[in-house]
This record gives sequence, C-alpha cells and structure tokens, in this order.
Amino acid sequence: MTDTSSPQPAKAWSGRFSEPVSDLVKRYTASVSFDQRMARQDIRGSLAHARMLARQGIISDQDLADIERGMAVIAEEIERGEFAWSLDDEDVHLNIEKRLTALVGDAGKRLHTGRSRNDQVATDIRLWLRDAIDQVLALIREFQANLLDLAEQHAATPMPGFTHLQVAQPVTFGHHLMAYYEMSRRDAERFADCRKRVNRLPLGSAALAGTSYPIDREFVARELGFDEVCANSLDAVSDRDFAIEFCAAASLLMTHLSRLSEELILWMSPRVGFIDLADRFCTGSSIMPQKKNPDVPELVRGKTGRVNGSLISLLTLMKGQPLAYNKDNQEDKEPLFDTADTVIDTLRIYADMVTGIRVKAEAMRGALSQGYATATDLADYLVKKGLPFRDAHEAVARAVREAETRGCDLPDFSLDELRAFSPLVGEDVFAVLTVEGSLASRNHVGGTAPEQVRAAVARARAALG
Ligand code: ARG
Repeated sequence: MTDTSSPQPAKAWSGRFSEPVSDLVKRYTASVSFDQRMARQDIRGSLAHARMLARQGIISDQDLADIERGMAVIAEEIERGEFAWSLDDEDVHLNIEKRLTALVGDAGKRLHTGRSRNDQVATDIRLWLRDAIDQVLALIREFQANLLDLAEQHAATPMPGFTHLQVAQPVTFGHHLMAYYEMSRRDAERFADCRKRVNRLPLGSAALAGTSYPIDREFVARELGFDEVCANSLDAVSDRDFAIEFCAAASLLMTHLSRLSEELILWMSPRVGFIDLADRFCTGSSIMPQKKNPDVPELVRGKTGRVNGSLISLLTLMKGQPLAYNKDNQEDKEPLFDTADTVIDTLRIYADMVTGIRVKAEAMRGALSQGYATATDLADYLVKKGLPFRDAHEAVARAVREAETRGCDLPDFSLDELRAFSPLVGEDVFAVLTVEGSLASRNHVGGTAPEQVRAAVARARAALG
C-alpha cells in the first residue's frame, strides 16, 4: 500500500475553492443519506470499470488487486452496517472512493481514471432499477397466479356486471377478476419493455464528452450484464427517461390496483356484502366496536397518489434541463426509490390479499335479481324472433316498468304476462331470462360464459408458465 502523491483536499473537488461550504449548503447538496441505497451497485460498477482499466493497461494489475481487496472490505462493512457514511463526502460515490483510498492508498485514487460521477451515477441507477424491475415482475406473476386461482374457482359464480354502477348484465365473478388479470398482464409487458431501455451502459461517457483513455465499453457492458452501451455520451449522462418510464408503468399498475381496491372496499361494505376480506388486511375502530375497515385496499388507493406524484416530479425535473448533466438530476432518486418501494410492497400485499377474499355468492345473486339484469337478453330474444332491435328495446322497457310496479323480477312473469309485451314471446323465453342462460349465451372469446372464463384462465396459466 503506497501513498506517494499529495494529500487529498477536504473534498474530492475542493482544490480550486478558497472557502468551504456552509453546513447548510453541505446538507442541501449532499445525497448520501438516500443514495447509499445504491452502494452495492456502485461497488459492482467500480469493479467492472477497474477490471477494464487493468485489461487496457490504464492501471496496473497490482492496482486492480488493491481495488478489489479494498472493495471487498467495504462491501463487508456496508453489509454489517459498520460503514461510516459521512455528509462531508457528499454522496455514495465519494464516500466509497474515500474509504477505498484510506484502505489501499494510490490504487483507490486511480479508480476514477476515465470516469466521472456523471456516468457513474447513471450506471448505478440503471443497475439498481434493473433489480427493482426484476422484483416487480416476479411479484406481478405471484399476484397473477393467485388471481387466476380465485377466478377459476368462480368461473361460474354469477354477479351483477355494472355500468354507471347500475346493474347492467350478469357476469361471472371469475370474468370480473380476469379483467384485472388482463390489466396486470399489460403492466408486466410495460415493465419488461422498460427494462430493455434501462439495461444500457452509460459508463465510458465520463463527464459528458467521453474520455481520451483507450477504454473498452463493451467489456464493461458484458461484465455488468448490460445489453448494449449508450450510444451518445451527452445523452447517457443527462437523460433519465428510463426512470420516468418506470414511474409511468408504476403509475398505471397502481391505477389498476387502486380500481380493484375501490371494488373490494365497495364489495365489503355491508350495504353490498359481496365479499369478506380476511381479518389480516383490516383494522377495527378505536371508538366503534362493530367496525371492520378495509384499511389495506384504502391505502393502496391512497398510495396511488404518491406514485402519480413521483411521475410528475421526474417529468418536471427533466423538462427544463439543457444538455448535459445538471445537479437537478440528483433529485431523481428519492421519487424513484419511493415508487419502487411502494409498488413492491403493494404487490406483495396484494398477492396475499387475493387469497383472503371470501366470496358471498348468495349476495351477488341477490343483487342480480334486483336489477333486471337479463333485460338485454329478453330484447335479444325478441330480435332473434324477428322484431327490430329498437322495438324490442321498447317492449322490454315496458316489461321492466311493469316489474318495477309489481316489485318482481322479469323471470317471475308468467308466459301470458310476457306475451302482453310482445306476442313473439314463446315458452323458450325462460331459458334466456335465467342468469345461467344469460351467462352461457355469451360464449365467445372475451365473453363471460363460464366455459370462456375457464379457457381464459387456462391460457393465462400457460402464459405464466
Ligand atoms: N450525487 C450526484 C447525483 O446524484 C452524483 C453526480 C454528481 N456529479 C457532479 N458533477 N456533481 O447526481
């Protein structure tokens, strides 16, 4: 371990300054309190960079060995929570580099050759985000697998389908759940697609213009598992569109889960009573002993707001920045981390919560019989007997009005009573007026017939692998 060069200034960059920053400015400009989360990625990136420097003869093999030895110690210290993070060293990069130099001397000071914190931080975020995306994708699959189990169980359980929150037509609960499966499938596609653009290497761009050292970026990309290198150094150090894309995908995912949450809350209300939610996702009231509140779905709905907020933060962060790197970009991390944390926790909870849904099939059926849910089926029946659709609509509207007056449902009418609305009605009408008949008749891809729901579940399982 040699240290032959001049002593290091107080800060890595403070050589040209005549007065130190105030404590407030130090705190204001530092990011170490939050970017230390990228320590593992920072070390990984530095090791790949050092190996490339040694391969290219830019640093010696001895330097590389010293750097590797020092980084192993640092990784241990961080793992054990013993690393002394210091605000004086501003961010995760300078903290680690300073410790490295304390441990191994000159080799530590040579690590930054041909590199800048600008391409270093962009690399760290991409490595960090890649891991986060992989976690998100695994959790979406877990959520989907459990959702599919529930959908299959209820492939033939009738419930009212709503438009305008008014009973519209019978659907199966399984079909309703499969709508959320489709949403989550598109969410997964979006994250997977975003990952492609995350997985490109900025290192080698240096501060903004590239470097005069004979570097090998392809080697570093391979070492770090990147698919390719970023093709323009200015773009690579400055743009954060990949993080914005992640946040946009996260916003959509949260929007979908927020909609499902709203339904769980509504279904759980004693006024509706379609489901019960396992106690572990609910809390009581400190004042009203009878209460069981759906806190978890409510929080999912609420946290969607902060995820949307982070997306707007990042978009706003970028919109006024000239090329290339600006310190504004330091503000990208907290919204990004918070978004990933929120989405990961929410998916974890949701994967389990889906298994805690107890369906009250009688209540769903009861709601159907109160809403004239098979009125469209009656109209379609008359059309098939030759009546123009508008006339059929009118005839059924009269039947509904009459049912309302009598306080009964459409299948409760006798054949003669139904004939009064249209002479085309025959004995076979009762097959379409029943909920089961209505469901079974919608037997095409995308329809609610139990047979179709089971097929949709099977296709989804095959896709999940
Ligand atoms: N902490 C900085 C960030 O998060 C690292 C890059 C700093 N680069 C610089 N030239 N000051 O963006």
